Amino acid sequence: MTAVTVPTVPLATADGTVPVPLLGLGTWQARGDEAYRTVRSALDLGYRHLDTATMYGNEVEIGRAVADSGVDRAELFVTTKCPPDRLGQEDETLERSLRDLRLDHVDLWLVHWPPHGEHGSVRMWERFLVARDRGRATAVGVSNYSPALIDELVSATGAGPAIDQIPWSPADHDPTLVEELRARGVVLEGYSPFKRTDLDHPTLVGVAQAHGATTAQVVLAWHLKHGFVVIPKSVRTERLRSNLDAVELDLAEDEIAAIDALGS
Ligand SMILES: NC(=O)c1ccc[n+]([C@@H]2O[C@H](COP(=O)([O-])OP(=O)(O)OC[C@H]3O[C@@H](n4cnc5c(N)ncnc54)[C@H](OP(=O)(O)O)[C@@H]3O)[C@@H](O)[C@H]2O)c1
Repeated sequence: MTAVTVPTVPLATADGTVPVPLLGLGTWQARGDEAYRTVRSALDLGYRHLDTATMYGNEVEIGRAVADSGVDRAELFVTTKCPPDRLGQEDETLERSLRDLRLDHVDLWLVHWPPHGEHGSVRMWERFLVARDRGRATAVGVSNYSPALIDELVSATGAGPAIDQIPWSPADHDPTLVEELRARGVVLEGYSPFKRTDLDHPTLVGVAQAHGATTAQVVLAWHLKHGFVVIPKSVRTERLRSNLDAVELDLAEDEIAAIDALGS
Protein backbone atom coordinates (compact mmCIF):
# COMPACT_ATOMS: atom_id res chain seq x y z
CA MET A 1 0.00 0.00 0.00
CA THR A 2 1.09 3.56 -0.66
CA ALA A 3 1.18 6.10 2.12
CA VAL A 4 -0.90 8.72 0.31
CA THR A 5 -2.78 10.95 2.71
CA VAL A 6 -6.00 12.24 1.24
CA PRO A 7 -7.24 15.49 2.83
CA THR A 8 -10.72 15.44 4.38
CA VAL A 9 -13.54 17.88 5.07
CA PRO A 10 -16.12 17.54 7.86
CA LEU A 11 -19.66 16.42 6.99
CA ALA A 12 -22.53 17.14 9.33
CA THR A 13 -24.02 14.13 11.14
CA ALA A 14 -26.88 13.86 13.66
CA ASP A 15 -24.66 14.92 16.54
CA GLY A 16 -21.37 16.18 15.14
CA THR A 17 -19.28 15.65 12.03
CA VAL A 18 -17.58 12.84 10.14
CA PRO A 19 -14.52 13.41 7.92
CA VAL A 20 -15.00 12.60 4.23
CA PRO A 21 -11.84 12.04 2.16
CA LEU A 22 -11.87 14.64 -0.62
CA LEU A 23 -10.87 12.07 -3.23
CA GLY A 24 -12.79 8.83 -3.61
CA LEU A 25 -13.42 6.13 -6.17
CA GLY A 26 -16.41 6.42 -8.51
CA THR A 27 -17.86 3.04 -9.51
CA TRP A 28 -20.67 3.77 -11.97
CA GLN A 29 -20.43 1.37 -14.96
CA ALA A 30 -17.99 -0.93 -13.14
CA ARG A 31 -19.88 -4.21 -12.84
CA GLY A 32 -19.24 -7.83 -11.91
CA ASP A 33 -15.65 -9.05 -11.67
CA GLU A 34 -14.38 -5.76 -13.02
CA ALA A 35 -15.99 -3.94 -10.08
CA TYR A 36 -14.51 -6.43 -7.63
CA ARG A 37 -10.99 -6.16 -9.10
CA THR A 38 -11.18 -2.37 -9.33
CA VAL A 39 -12.16 -1.93 -5.70
CA ARG A 40 -9.52 -4.40 -4.53
CA SER A 41 -6.84 -2.50 -6.49
CA ALA A 42 -8.09 0.86 -5.28
CA LEU A 43 -8.04 -0.23 -1.63
CA ASP A 44 -4.54 -1.69 -2.10
CA LEU A 45 -3.38 1.62 -3.56
CA GLY A 46 -4.75 3.56 -0.60
CA TYR A 47 -8.24 4.72 -1.61
CA ARG A 48 -10.50 4.80 1.43
CA HIS A 49 -13.62 6.41 -0.01
CA LEU A 50 -15.95 4.45 -2.31
CA ASP A 51 -18.98 5.81 -4.14
CA THR A 52 -21.71 3.45 -5.30
CA ALA A 53 -25.51 3.44 -5.69
CA THR A 54 -28.37 0.97 -5.70
CA MET A 55 -28.70 1.72 -9.42
CA TYR A 56 -25.08 0.80 -10.21
CA GLY A 57 -25.78 -2.88 -9.57
CA ASN A 58 -22.33 -3.44 -8.04
CA GLU A 59 -22.91 -3.32 -4.28
CA VAL A 60 -22.47 -7.10 -3.92
CA GLU A 61 -19.06 -7.00 -5.63
CA ILE A 62 -17.99 -3.94 -3.67
CA GLY A 63 -19.05 -5.61 -0.42
CA ARG A 64 -17.03 -8.69 -1.29
CA ALA A 65 -14.00 -6.62 -2.29
CA VAL A 66 -14.11 -4.63 0.96
CA ALA A 67 -14.46 -7.81 3.03
CA ASP A 68 -11.57 -9.53 1.20
CA SER A 69 -9.33 -6.44 1.38
CA GLY A 70 -8.79 -6.65 5.12
CA VAL A 71 -9.06 -2.86 5.39
CA ASP A 72 -10.53 -1.78 8.74
CA ARG A 73 -14.14 -0.66 8.48
CA ALA A 74 -13.26 2.39 10.59
CA GLU A 75 -10.83 3.55 7.88
CA LEU A 76 -13.41 3.38 5.12
CA PHE A 77 -15.93 5.92 3.90
CA VAL A 78 -18.70 4.27 1.87
CA THR A 79 -21.48 6.13 0.05
CA THR A 80 -24.53 4.65 -1.58
CA LYS A 81 -27.64 6.22 -3.08
CA CYS A 82 -31.36 5.60 -3.08
CA PRO A 83 -33.15 5.86 -6.46
CA PRO A 84 -36.08 8.30 -6.46
CA ASP A 85 -38.50 5.58 -7.57
CA ARG A 86 -37.96 3.88 -4.18
CA LEU A 87 -40.11 6.56 -2.58
CA GLY A 88 -42.04 4.78 0.18
CA GLN A 89 -39.51 1.89 0.23
CA GLU A 90 -36.50 3.78 1.51
CA ASP A 91 -35.90 1.59 4.57
CA GLU A 92 -35.96 -1.65 2.55
CA THR A 93 -33.68 -0.09 -0.06
CA LEU A 94 -31.10 0.89 2.54
CA GLU A 95 -31.28 -2.50 4.27
CA ARG A 96 -30.70 -4.19 0.91
CA SER A 97 -27.68 -1.95 0.23
CA LEU A 98 -26.26 -2.72 3.67
CA ARG A 99 -26.73 -6.44 3.20
CA ASP A 100 -25.10 -6.37 -0.24
CA LEU A 101 -22.24 -4.17 0.97
CA ARG A 102 -21.86 -6.38 4.09
CA LEU A 103 -21.95 -3.32 6.32
CA ASP A 104 -24.00 -2.34 9.35
CA HIS A 105 -24.02 1.32 8.30
CA VAL A 106 -22.97 3.47 5.37
CA ASP A 107 -21.02 6.64 5.97
CA LEU A 108 -23.17 8.60 3.55
CA TRP A 109 -26.56 7.87 1.99
CA LEU A 110 -27.76 10.09 -0.84
CA VAL A 111 -31.08 10.72 -2.55
CA HIS A 112 -29.88 9.93 -6.08
CA TRP A 113 -32.21 12.42 -7.83
CA PRO A 114 -35.11 14.52 -6.58
CA PRO A 115 -38.22 12.27 -6.48
CA HIS A 116 -41.24 13.51 -8.44
CA GLY A 117 -44.74 13.95 -7.13
CA GLU A 118 -46.25 16.10 -4.45
CA HIS A 119 -43.90 16.42 -1.49
CA GLY A 120 -42.01 13.36 -2.81
CA SER A 121 -38.66 14.92 -2.09
CA VAL A 122 -39.64 15.85 1.47
CA ARG A 123 -41.18 12.45 2.20
CA MET A 124 -38.03 10.66 1.09
CA TRP A 125 -35.88 13.07 3.08
CA GLU A 126 -37.88 12.36 6.26
CA ARG A 127 -37.00 8.67 5.92
CA PHE A 128 -33.35 9.60 5.39
CA LEU A 129 -33.31 11.51 8.65
CA VAL A 130 -34.83 8.51 10.45
CA ALA A 131 -32.13 6.24 8.97
CA ARG A 132 -29.48 8.67 10.18
CA ASP A 133 -31.00 8.79 13.66
CA ARG A 134 -31.03 4.97 13.73
CA GLY A 135 -27.31 4.93 12.86
CA ARG A 136 -27.78 3.11 9.55
CA ALA A 137 -26.26 6.11 7.73
CA THR A 138 -23.77 8.34 9.52
CA ALA A 139 -24.48 11.30 7.25
CA VAL A 140 -27.26 11.88 4.74
CA GLY A 141 -27.28 14.02 1.66
CA VAL A 142 -28.68 14.59 -1.80
CA SER A 143 -27.56 14.45 -5.39
CA ASN A 144 -28.59 16.56 -8.36
CA TYR A 145 -30.39 19.08 -6.11
CA SER A 146 -30.53 22.85 -6.63
CA PRO A 147 -30.20 25.20 -3.63
CA ALA A 148 -33.96 25.90 -3.96
CA LEU A 149 -34.78 22.20 -3.61
CA ILE A 150 -32.46 21.98 -0.62
CA ASP A 151 -34.30 24.90 0.97
CA GLU A 152 -37.58 22.98 0.61
CA LEU A 153 -36.11 20.11 2.64
CA VAL A 154 -34.85 22.44 5.34
CA SER A 155 -38.12 24.33 5.69
CA ALA A 156 -40.13 21.11 5.87
CA THR A 157 -37.90 19.14 8.25
CA GLY A 158 -35.52 21.62 9.87
CA ALA A 159 -32.56 19.51 8.70
CA GLY A 160 -30.56 19.96 5.51
CA PRO A 161 -28.29 17.60 3.60
CA ALA A 162 -24.63 17.30 4.56
CA ILE A 163 -23.61 17.16 0.92
CA ASP A 164 -24.91 17.71 -2.62
CA GLN A 165 -23.35 15.46 -5.28
CA ILE A 166 -23.61 17.28 -8.59
CA PRO A 167 -22.00 17.27 -12.04
CA TRP A 168 -18.83 19.32 -11.62
CA SER A 169 -15.61 20.14 -13.44
CA PRO A 170 -13.62 23.27 -14.29
CA ALA A 171 -16.06 23.92 -17.16
CA ASP A 172 -18.95 23.82 -14.65
CA HIS A 173 -17.27 26.12 -12.14
CA ASP A 174 -19.88 28.55 -10.82
CA PRO A 175 -18.77 30.66 -7.83
CA THR A 176 -22.39 31.69 -7.12
CA LEU A 177 -23.49 28.07 -6.72
CA VAL A 178 -20.37 27.30 -4.66
CA GLU A 179 -21.27 30.13 -2.31
CA GLU A 180 -24.96 29.15 -2.16
CA LEU A 181 -24.06 25.64 -1.02
CA ARG A 182 -21.40 26.88 1.38
CA ALA A 183 -23.85 29.34 2.96
CA ARG A 184 -26.22 26.40 3.64
CA GLY A 185 -23.45 24.30 5.18
CA VAL A 186 -23.67 21.83 2.29
CA VAL A 187 -20.41 20.29 1.03
CA LEU A 188 -20.07 20.26 -2.76
CA GLU A 189 -19.25 16.82 -4.16
CA GLY A 190 -18.54 16.74 -7.89
CA TYR A 191 -19.15 13.84 -10.24
CA SER A 192 -17.91 13.10 -13.77
CA PRO A 193 -14.79 15.30 -13.46
CA PHE A 194 -13.20 13.84 -16.62
CA LYS A 195 -16.27 13.21 -18.74
CA ARG A 196 -17.17 16.87 -18.39
CA THR A 197 -13.65 18.13 -19.20
CA ASP A 198 -11.67 18.64 -22.40
CA LEU A 199 -8.47 17.06 -21.13
CA ASP A 200 -6.62 18.61 -24.10
CA HIS A 201 -7.63 22.16 -23.18
CA PRO A 202 -4.54 24.42 -23.53
CA THR A 203 -4.99 25.91 -20.04
CA LEU A 204 -4.96 22.46 -18.44
CA VAL A 205 -2.09 21.31 -20.68
CA GLY A 206 -0.04 24.38 -19.67
CA VAL A 207 -0.55 23.80 -15.94
CA ALA A 208 0.10 20.07 -16.30
CA GLN A 209 3.37 20.67 -18.16
CA ALA A 210 4.54 23.13 -15.52
CA HIS A 211 4.18 20.40 -12.87
CA GLY A 212 5.15 17.34 -14.90
CA ALA A 213 1.62 16.06 -14.28
CA THR A 214 -1.28 14.91 -16.45
CA THR A 215 -4.27 17.13 -17.20
CA ALA A 216 -6.47 14.59 -15.38
CA GLN A 217 -4.36 15.12 -12.26
CA VAL A 218 -4.66 18.90 -12.66
CA VAL A 219 -8.47 18.61 -12.77
CA LEU A 220 -8.48 16.54 -9.56
CA ALA A 221 -5.98 18.82 -7.80
CA TRP A 222 -8.17 21.81 -8.71
CA HIS A 223 -11.13 20.12 -6.93
CA LEU A 224 -9.01 19.36 -3.86
CA LYS A 225 -7.63 22.88 -3.63
CA HIS A 226 -11.19 24.25 -3.60
CA GLY A 227 -12.32 21.67 -1.01
CA PHE A 228 -14.71 20.00 -3.47
CA VAL A 229 -15.11 16.26 -2.97
CA VAL A 230 -14.28 14.40 -6.20
CA ILE A 231 -14.88 10.76 -7.12
CA PRO A 232 -13.11 9.89 -10.38
CA LYS A 233 -13.90 6.47 -11.81
CA SER A 234 -11.35 4.21 -13.45
CA VAL A 235 -11.12 0.46 -13.80
CA ARG A 236 -7.40 0.60 -14.76
CA THR A 237 -4.78 0.25 -12.05
CA GLU A 238 -2.38 2.76 -13.62
CA ARG A 239 -5.10 5.42 -13.76
CA LEU A 240 -6.28 4.57 -10.24
CA ARG A 241 -2.73 5.22 -9.09
CA SER A 242 -2.19 8.44 -11.02
CA ASN A 243 -5.60 9.78 -10.02
CA LEU A 244 -4.80 9.17 -6.35
CA ASP A 245 -1.35 10.74 -6.78
CA ALA A 246 -3.11 14.00 -7.69
CA VAL A 247 -3.32 14.68 -3.94
CA GLU A 248 0.42 15.45 -4.07
CA LEU A 249 -0.03 18.11 -6.75
CA ASP A 250 -0.04 21.62 -5.28
CA LEU A 251 -1.44 24.21 -7.68
CA ALA A 252 -0.58 27.90 -7.32
CA GLU A 253 -3.29 30.52 -6.81
CA ASP A 254 -2.84 31.92 -10.33
CA GLU A 255 -3.18 28.42 -11.78
CA ILE A 256 -6.41 27.86 -9.81
CA ALA A 257 -7.72 31.21 -11.06
CA ALA A 258 -6.90 30.31 -14.68
CA ILE A 259 -8.74 26.98 -14.30
CA ASP A 260 -11.69 28.70 -12.56
CA ALA A 261 -12.01 30.90 -15.63
CA LEU A 262 -12.83 27.84 -17.78
CA GLY A 263 -16.25 27.94 -16.13
CA SER A 264 -17.15 31.39 -17.36
N1 LIG B 1 -25.01 11.16 -8.52
C1 LIG B 1 -25.09 11.01 -9.81
O1 LIG B 1 -26.12 11.23 -10.45
C2 LIG B 1 -23.86 10.55 -10.55
C3 LIG B 1 -23.82 10.63 -11.96
C4 LIG B 1 -22.64 10.23 -12.60
C5 LIG B 1 -21.56 9.76 -11.86
N2 LIG B 1 -21.64 9.67 -10.48
C6 LIG B 1 -20.51 9.14 -9.67
O2 LIG B 1 -19.34 9.86 -10.03
C7 LIG B 1 -18.34 8.94 -10.47
C8 LIG B 1 -17.43 9.60 -11.50
O3 LIG B 1 -18.15 10.02 -12.63
P1 LIG B 1 -18.16 9.23 -14.02
O4 LIG B 1 -17.84 7.80 -13.83
O5 LIG B 1 -19.43 9.61 -14.69
O6 LIG B 1 -17.02 9.95 -14.86
P2 LIG B 1 -15.46 10.33 -14.69
O7 LIG B 1 -14.92 9.82 -13.40
O8 LIG B 1 -15.37 11.77 -15.01
O9 LIG B 1 -14.82 9.61 -15.91
C9 LIG B 1 -14.67 8.23 -16.02
C10 LIG B 1 -14.04 7.99 -17.39
O10 LIG B 1 -12.75 8.59 -17.42
C11 LIG B 1 -11.78 7.59 -17.69
N3 LIG B 1 -10.58 7.92 -16.88
C12 LIG B 1 -10.35 7.62 -15.58
N4 LIG B 1 -9.16 8.10 -15.17
C13 LIG B 1 -8.63 8.75 -16.25
C14 LIG B 1 -7.42 9.44 -16.45
N5 LIG B 1 -6.51 9.58 -15.47
N6 LIG B 1 -7.17 9.96 -17.68
C15 LIG B 1 -8.09 9.83 -18.67
N7 LIG B 1 -9.26 9.17 -18.54
C16 LIG B 1 -9.53 8.63 -17.32
C17 LIG B 1 -12.41 6.28 -17.32
O11 LIG B 1 -11.93 5.22 -18.11
P3 LIG B 1 -11.32 3.85 -17.46
O12 LIG B 1 -12.31 3.37 -16.44
O13 LIG B 1 -11.20 2.97 -18.66
O14 LIG B 1 -10.01 4.26 -16.87
C18 LIG B 1 -13.88 6.54 -17.66
O15 LIG B 1 -14.09 6.36 -19.06
C19 LIG B 1 -19.16 7.76 -11.01
O16 LIG B 1 -18.39 6.61 -11.21
C20 LIG B 1 -20.20 7.67 -9.92
O17 LIG B 1 -19.66 7.02 -8.79
C21 LIG B 1 -22.76 10.08 -9.83
